[in-house]
Amino acid sequence: MIRTAQQLARLGPDEHRHITIRTAVPGCQGGIQRAGLPGGGGDLKFLDHLQKKYSNQLGFLPRQALEWNIERGNVSLALENDEPAAYLLGRPGYMHDPHFGIIYQAAVSYDAQRRLLGTALVQHFVDRLSAAGVPGLQSVPGAGVPGAGGVKLIGLWCAQDIEANEFWNSCGFEAIAARHGSRRKGRVHIFWVGRTPRASANDPLRYPKQTRGGLMRERRAVYGIAPGSEYKEVVLPPSPPEVNGRTAQASSRRPAAKRPQRVSLIEQQRAFRFGSAGHICVVIAGATRYLPVAPFEMPDFTDLARTMVGVRAA
Ligand SMILES: CC(C)(COP(=O)(O)OP(=O)(O)OC[C@H]1O[C@@H](n2cnc3c(N)ncnc32)[C@H](O)[C@@H]1OP(=O)(O)O)[C@@H](O)C(=O)NCCC(=O)NCCS
Repeated sequence: MIRTAQQLARLGPDEHRHITIRTAVPGCQGGIQRAGLPGGGGDLKFLDHLQKKYSNQLGFLPRQALEWNIERGNVSLALENDEPAAYLLGRPGYMHDPHFGIIYQAAVSYDAQRRLLGTALVQHFVDRLSAAGVPGLQSVPGAGVPGAGGVKLIGLWCAQDIEANEFWNSCGFEAIAARHGSRRKGRVHIFWVGRTPRASANDPLRYPKQTRGGLMRERRAVYGIAPGSEYKEVVLPPSPPEVNGRTAQASSRRPAAKRPQRVSLIEQQRAFRFGSAGHICVVIAGATRYLPVAPFEMPDFTDLARTMVGVRAA
């Protein structure tokens, strides 16, 4: 079970008085004038600024994707003394399941870390999604009955070699699966998942069999981690070799279409001239097709020309 509430209970109510959490808002409504931010203004700028600072830890999202998520209320912002200090971007509907939430990004400004801001944001997210009638479920394609019963599981991917894994561990998430990261970085990604208060202990923790989103835009197999194993110990089988810029695994699922054997123009003309192919060549909108035809006698074009000249002369 996700145990952020217990962690937060360690703080006296006064200690978190200066922290507020609100949903990020689109456009200039954010109204942030934080020192050091180029141009100032807007929750979007804060998110983009922080994700770039943690480019080694966070999966990069283009500005349009950040905007899209802000507009749909998928971003919670933590403010310390009215200044944005941290954010969490996530939504329900992972694996097309309305009861499965996913956290895509979580980041706390460097100077605000280790003061339970991250924990408070996760708790806020859990509260929001595990409540019945979750706002935003309607916007999840294929999410099923909107708002039915709230989210029971929350998952996220985290690179194996960063400290944030300890954070997810301390929040009560469990590392249950792993996949290869990008070929360039050669990292392993760990899938952490936790039960919300909506779930019962019997609800199994789940992970996708493969993923194909993110920057890599390619299918990646997901491997289960043996119960009791540490996320640090996970070693994956070598990633499948690349074929034409895609993994063999990805390409084996979608075999390349068999190209028709090319026939030279001379061969095509011979086949047509002598009728050996029994096909007629038709070119429509630049595409060549050979249509079967009944055997026919080639017309005598010399006779035809003579006839036509005669017709004109008459
Ligand atoms: C990971 C992150 C969001 C955690 O936020 P935070 O507000 O600093 O974390 P909290 O103060 O709520 O930490 C709660 C507990 O998590 C654990 N924890 C958090 N950060 C940790 C770290 N760097 N190393 C080890 N344990 C850590 C600790 O047990 C901590 O309790 P403690 O401080 O009493 O020891 C923040 O460090 C961050 O933004 N990191 C850079 C971006 C990033 O890695 N994002 C996650 C990508 S998957």
